Parts: sequence; structure tokens; C-alpha cells
Amino acid sequence: MTDAAAKVLHDYHLDVPPRQEVFPVKGAGHCDWGMQNRMARLFNPKSGNTVMLAFDHGYIMGPTAGLERIDVTIPPLIPYVDVLMGTKGAIRACLPPTMQKAKCIRVTYDATVLYDEMSNGGGIACDIENAIRMNADCMAVQTFIGAPGESRSLELLARTADAGARYGIPTLGVVAVGKQMERTEKFFLLATRVLAENGANIVKSYYCEGFEKVAAACPVPIVIAGGKKLPEPEALEMAWRAIQSGAHGVDMGRNIFQSDCPQGMAAAIGKIVHESYTPKQALEVYEEIRNKG
Ligand code: 5RP
Repeated sequence: MTDAAAKVLHDYHLDVPPRQEVFPVKGAGHCDWGMQNRMARLFNPKSGNTVMLAFDHGYIMGPTAGLERIDVTIPPLIPYVDVLMGTKGAIRACLPPTMQKAKCIRVTYDATVLYDEMSNGGGIACDIENAIRMNADCMAVQTFIGAPGESRSLELLARTADAGARYGIPTLGVVAVGKQMERTEKFFLLATRVLAENGANIVKSYYCEGFEKVAAACPVPIVIAGGKKLPEPEALEMAWRAIQSGAHGVDMGRNIFQSDCPQGMAAAIGKIVHESYTPKQALEVYEEIRNKG
């Protein structure tokens, strides 16, 4: 039966202008649809920010406190975060393939903590085919700016970003802070910019004094690592300061899974990142969940 016979009228919406959206992730306006679609799984399109949960520590540190059993510790946190960041081995073995959240796979390896100096540059632990097979939304590469592994790690970053661009998978460049690297505004200005210019679609770095300049000078979103475990109010304060200064989220590990209430911390961080809660309001969220036991 034809449309005319069925009396169905065509409507070309001639009065409606064509859809033209400004893509909400910094520096990703030029990317193609697949890359933007993955970016929109990483970054909440409303807030433009993300809560990534990092549990990749075992790749150099072995069974870190709080991650002795990833299959026990991490799955209960999935509802509270946007992205799960781990190695291919941990994600495959410990997370349910039915989960709907985005995954960021750490695709490089480095020397373990048994060596005095880990910053030699490492190699590829998960190639692009494996990342695609695992349905990765993002690939993370550790880089060592100002250390012996600088050249090697920048090569791995650039190669990963090229492969990611080919298949529409964003690359997260991770700024490592090893023995020789300072934690100054000057260092982070240099390191974050170098990673972005060598192809990282997202940069993971650390909060520092003058962070607003670091964020402004980086053409792609910066997410901050948490670093060693702090008392909960201090960790929330740091996350809040970072967001206020231009970070687009966190990629936090120990300050969540080593907390006495990991779910409360993950929820509280989410409120800061997505809903502009103050550290005090976020602490109340953490305490409420902790007190419920
Ligand atoms: C180290 C990493 C780790 O994933 C990250 O730093 C761990 O998070 P946290 O410091 O918050 O425990 O990228 O290079």
C-alpha cells in the first residue's frame, strides 16, 4: 500500500532549523561521531564532567591496600561513578560484562615497584584490537615527562592516540610523578600541554597551586588523580578546588576505595563533580551513607 493510499502525510518540518549542537567536551568539537559518542559516555553531557574510578594500581604495585580483591571491592561502586579505569586483566576477570558504565583500559605497562626507578617508558600491554574487543571507551597511557622514559612513553602515547583516532577511541594521557619529577605548577603546565599536543584527548594530572592556569592552557579536559589517601574532608576539598579551577572531573582511586565508606566517598565526589556541591555539603552525603552502614 502506498503512503497516499494509507493517507499518511509527509512532514519535512520546513520550519525547524537543522540540528546543530555544540559538543560539550573541551577540544572534541572536531572529532567524528564515534569518538564524540564515546566521549559522551565518559563525560556527563549535562555537567561536562566525569567521575572515573581508578583501580589499576596493581599493574605496578601488586595487591594495593583496598584492592586485594577487585571483584569484591569495585563492583559495588559501579553505580556511583561514570567510568571504570583498570587493566585489561582486572576488568576481564573482576567486572561484570553486563555493566553499562564506560571503561578506560590502561594500555601500557611499566616496571614494577621492585625497581627503584619505574619511569623507563614501559610498553604496550593492550593493543588496539584488544581494546576494541573489550569494547573500550578510552585507552590510558602513562607518560614520564622529565624522566628517562620520556621519549619512549611519548611514542607510546602518540601511537595509541593515532590508533584511537582511527577507530574512534579517545586516549587518556596520564602525567606520572616519579622520583625526578617535581609537583609544581611549572611542571604540570609543561607536562599536561605536552600530552595534549601529542594526541591525548583527555589528560590525567594532579591538583596543584595555580591549577587554573594549568587547566586553561590545556586544550583538552584535565581530570585529577587523588594520590595517597587523605582524610575524607581533605580529599573532598581537593576535588572541589580542582573543579572550581577548571578540572573536568577526577580519576580517583585510593581516596575512594581506601575510605572507611567507599560508596559514601564515591557518591560525595560525584556531587562535587556533577552538581557543584561544596566540600561541606559533600561531606554530609558521605557521612549519611556511612552512618547508614
Ligand atoms: C598512576 C595512575 C593511577 O591510576 C592513579 O594515580 C591512581 O589513582 P589515585 O592516585 O587516586 O589512587 O594513573 O599513574
